Amino acid sequence: MRKRIMATAGALCIGFTSVVSAAPFGGTDDMGYAGKLWSAMEGDGLVGNNAIMSAPYTGVHPHGAILDTLDATTTVDGKKNVVIIKRNYGGPGVSKQAVANDPAKFLKAITVMYKRPGYDPEDKDWFWVKFNPKGGVLKNPKGMSLAGKVAKGAAEGCIACHTAAPGGDLVFNHDRYK
Ligand code: HEC
Repeated sequence: MRKRIMATAGALCIGFTSVVSAAPFGGTDDMGYAGKLWSAMEGDGLVGNNAIMSAPYTGVHPHGAILDTLDATTTVDGKKNVVIIKRNYGGPGVSKQAVANDPAKFLKAITVMYKRPGYDPEDKDWFWVKFNPKGGVLKNPKGMSLAGKVAKGAAEGCIACHTAAPGGDLVFNHDRYK
């Protein structure tokens, strides 16, 4: 009897471990990399105080009422790669003009795609993150941090939705990074 209980506990333990290590995003490595990516973007003036911005435009679900999107490059771990930064603005009184006048007042989230060769060949090697305006990684309703290969299955997952982008590059706005 005791043996059987031990065996069951062992199996549960193994099951749990494999679930944790199989989590495709939000783990320690992804969080560390997200931190480096934020610092790199901040160093290049792409996020944070006085970051450069493009003209705000009216957005579509789920990214927010008003958006601006930048294509740039930034260097993480000594490797310079393409980064696409989408800032998501909202809140009372939001409009294109209001955002252009005072972006920080309306900034809600910063969604980022960073090209990371070899990281996820199946999905075009994008590293996905959703940051808050201060560089913290936001979580989904299940409490999982949105950094890494976010997520194929879930309807709200970046990859799941971006797979529909034309050109097969997971980028909606253009096909430059095929
Ligand atoms: C339900 C669909 C959907 C989900 C989920 C989604 N996106 Fe998007 N995303 C879009 C659409 C549509 C666009 C293009 C229109 C626009 O500019 O808003 C876009 C644009 C972008 C862009 C600009 C590059 C491009 O593809 O044109 C980035 C960067 C981005 N999304 C990041 C993310 C990240 C990071 C996540 C997950 C945290 C995410 N997205 C989740 C639909 C989605």
